[in-house]
Amino acid sequence: MAKCIIDGKKITAPDGTPILQAARDNGIDIPTLCSHESIEPSGACRLCVVEIKKGKRSKIVTSCLYQVEDGLEVDTKSERVMNVRRLVLALLLARNPASEVIREIAVKMGVNPQPRFKLDEDKGKCILCRLCVRTCADIVGVNAIGLSHRGPSKTVGPPFDEDSSACIGCGACAYVCPTGHILMEEKVDERKIWGRRFKMKACDTCGRYFAPLDQLEFISKKTGVSVADLSICTSCR
Ligand code: SF4
Ligand code: FES
Repeated sequence: MAKCIIDGKKITAPDGTPILQAARDNGIDIPTLCSHESIEPSGACRLCVVEIKKGKRSKIVTSCLYQVEDGLEVDTKSERVMNVRRLVLALLLARNPASEVIREIAVKMGVNPQPRFKLDEDKGKCILCRLCVRTCADIVGVNAIGLSHRGPSKTVGPPFDEDSSACIGCGACAYVCPTGHILMEEKVDERKIWGRRFKMKACDTCGRYFAPLDQLEFISKKTGVSVADLSICTSCR
C-alpha cells in the first residue's frame, strides 16, 4: 500500500493505483475526457494533469497514468495545474469548437468557450483519444475502426473511409466516445452507424427491437449459442 497526500488529504491506496483513481475513490474530482474504467489509460487528452511533489521537486503529470507512491504530495488544483488545464482546453476548443462536452468543461473552468487559437483542420468533435478504436478491438473484438491518414489529417473511422464490412453495429464506439463525435441513428427496426445500416432484431418475448442482427450473429459464432437463443432482450431474460 502507498501512503500519499492528495489536496491535503491523507490517502492510502494499493501500489500501482493511478493518482486519478485514488483521488476519485476519495471524493476528489479531476476533469477527464479520455479516461474509461474498462480501458487502459492512454494519456491522450491531458486534462487530468496534477502537480506532484516529492522532496523539493515538483512537476506536472497526467493523473490517469502516474501512480501513487509513498510520500507523494499531489495538488489537483494548484495555479500551475489550472494554467495547464486552461491551455489544454484552449487547444481542444481550437480543434473541436463544435464539441458541447468540451465547451461545458471550459465554461466550468472559467475558460471562454470561444476558441482563442486559430482553428485547426476540422475534426468534428473528435479528440483522437482512440477510446472507440480500443473498445472495438479489445472489448468487442472486432477491429472495425482505426486511425487513418497522418499528421493534422488524422481521423478515426473504418479503413480507407469506406463502409466497414467488419462492423457489427454494436454501437460500443459511440457509447464510449467522450465527445459525441460518433453518430448513431436509430429508427424502430434499423440502426445507422459509420455509414452502414443494420437491421435490428426484435425480442422474441416483448417484441422490442434490441440489438443488430449482425451483432447477434457475431456473438453466436464466438460462443456457439444459437441466434434463436440470443433473441430475448436483457429485460425479458
Ligand atoms: S471518435 Fe470519440 S472515442 Fe473515437 S477517437 Fe474520437 S473522441 Fe475518441
Ligand atoms: S484522462 Fe488522463 S490524459 Fe485524458
